[in-house]
Amino acid sequence: MLIRRPADIAPSEITPRALFEDRRRFLQTLSGGAVAGAALWAGFPSTARAAPQKLAPLTPSPFNVKEDKTPYKAVTTYNNFYEFGTDKEDPAANAGVMATRPWTVKVEGLVGKPRSFDIDEILKLAPLEERIYRLRCVEAWSMVIPWVGFPLAALLKQVEPQGSAKYVEFISHYDPKIMLRRPVLDWPYREGLRLDEAMHPLTLLTVGLYGEVLPNQNGAPVRIVVPWKYGFKSAKSIVTIRLVEREPVSSWTQANAAEYGFYSNVNPNVDHPRWTQSKERRIGEFSKRPTLMFNGYADQVARLYQGMDLQKYY
Ligand code: MTE
Repeated sequence: MLIRRPADIAPSEITPRALFEDRRRFLQTLSGGAVAGAALWAGFPSTARAAPQKLAPLTPSPFNVKEDKTPYKAVTTYNNFYEFGTDKEDPAANAGVMATRPWTVKVEGLVGKPRSFDIDEILKLAPLEERIYRLRCVEAWSMVIPWVGFPLAALLKQVEPQGSAKYVEFISHYDPKIMLRRPVLDWPYREGLRLDEAMHPLTLLTVGLYGEVLPNQNGAPVRIVVPWKYGFKSAKSIVTIRLVEREPVSSWTQANAAEYGFYSNVNPNVDHPRWTQSKERRIGEFSKRPTLMFNGYADQVARLYQGMDLQKYY
């Protein structure tokens, strides 16, 4: 991302689960002061996983990739969730303090029926599916994750998008009392999609992984997963979905438009200004593998970009 170089991660570098379950550290600077987080976190609930909450039964999906899944431990301890710190292990250590119930997602803007959905209402909107997707980060690492969710389209149809709605903006929860106050990004975290991208059956409103509710560090209780785009397009812990006419400015684009464009489709032919995007390291593997156009989902999504210059619309 903004301050990182592409990952070059050996399997041994992945934080063991025991470590994150025990740790309470959050040594990020708050409000410009060099305040270590240890004291701040005293008294907050442990980040240890309580009894896992199963999300079953799940309907099978035709979109599952047939590649080895990244182990649960890596999926849940090697994260980007900058509100909880900028090191990969920070979210697992620190996000446990976020209360994920009650939780409401407001859907507003250019819709016929704006409304708020309680998380329990969301869970009942459509059958939950297991979707085994590749996740390709702009930092040039990738994973294969068995998400649980259903197409975002099922929720968007409930609010009846108006003809003038062309884009969808996603806004993440931000609570400066428990999250990083240092302006690494302009909080709250914001991302956006074109409406047709948001309505695409691959775009998942995600509530779980590995058959269980989402761990906080992965964006509990509800996040977006857009498998053909770089990981940062998949906003976590969302509280607002807004349908708008103009292309929304995401937090990453605002931070550095030359490095993070609105589309951010996985594209091995368009390099990040500071590194190549032609290869990636699958977490847990030693050698690099070639990055696939649209992260391997070209058959499903290439038509969305027909006639567009993808060097220009990166
Ligand atoms: N959403 C929020 N709110 N904050 C973040 O920092 N990071 C993004 C994305 N969603 C991020 C976020 C990035 S850079 C990536 S790669 C993915 O989440 C990582 O998702 P994961 O940790 O579940 O693998």
